[in-house]
Amino acid sequence: MTEHIIVLNDGGILTLILNRPDKKNALTDAMYAALADQLESAQSDPAVRTILIRGEGDMFCAGNDLGEFAATASSGGPANVMRFLRTLAALEKPLVAAVQGRAVGIGTTMLLHCDHVVLAEDAVLSAPFVSLALAPEAASSLLLPGLIGHVRAFAMFALGDAVGAQDALAWGLANKVVPLADLHATADAVARRLVRQPLGALIATKRLMRPQRAITAHMEEEITQFLARLASAEAQEAFAAFAERRAPDFSRFS
Ligand code: COA
Repeated sequence: MTEHIIVLNDGGILTLILNRPDKKNALTDAMYAALADQLESAQSDPAVRTILIRGEGDMFCAGNDLGEFAATASSGGPANVMRFLRTLAALEKPLVAAVQGRAVGIGTTMLLHCDHVVLAEDAVLSAPFVSLALAPEAASSLLLPGLIGHVRAFAMFALGDAVGAQDALAWGLANKVVPLADLHATADAVARRLVRQPLGALIATKRLMRPQRAITAHMEEEITQFLARLASAEAQEAFAAFAERRAPDFSRFS
């Protein structure tokens, strides 16, 4: 278990805290493994009735660790990222998220699998996959256009346009925007309400609301595309540019 994921288990709520604030909670393979392990055991643990995810520090999550992406690009990416995504998509118990600051890439796309999302006023969501020479993941190329429409989703994916908290709320990406100081109390209160609801009925409702087979099939198709993009020379240029703190130059790739 990595120190970069904190796990609290109390009163029927499993709280998973992304705890790598110095790196803006960028997700490493060890973090994906810990998250996947926790979600897998939560699924079958009768003591867990609701799961809450949040991040330490000033940002929810800066997406995948780009150094690890660069290092593992030719071997299929971080070993546990796809396991995390599959487990997340298959989770039957309610999932609540509390988001402050930036949520980038998978930091945003994981929210599409949450059942209740609370944003702090400073939350900014983005999914700049094309800017990184990648393609969308987590079934986001299905779920995001479905929620906010094709043209808005395309601007997020293709141009890297970021969405502020109030727009995210208006577009159906979140339930509520609250002052930063109230974020955790608000999300905790929602989780406590969910714990008191009948779990069987919650699971049945979530199952009925999510086209699980379509989501899983779409995610598998995305994974093929994503891994091909990850191994591309364009992506190596994008990762090198991030590491060197410069703008990428994609002009030499046709
Ligand atoms: N992978 C690895 N390290 C990351 C990271 C990521 N995705 N995001 C941030 N970090 C690291 C930075 O390298 C920096 O490390 P250092 O202090 O050792 O130099 C530290 O976290 C702080 O980041 P910094 O860029 O200085 O903070 P900021 O407040 O100026 O900007 C972000 C924050 C999130 C806007 C910016 O870091 C960013 O754009 N990150 C990349 C996001 C991304 O493209 N993710 C992948 C999506 S698929």
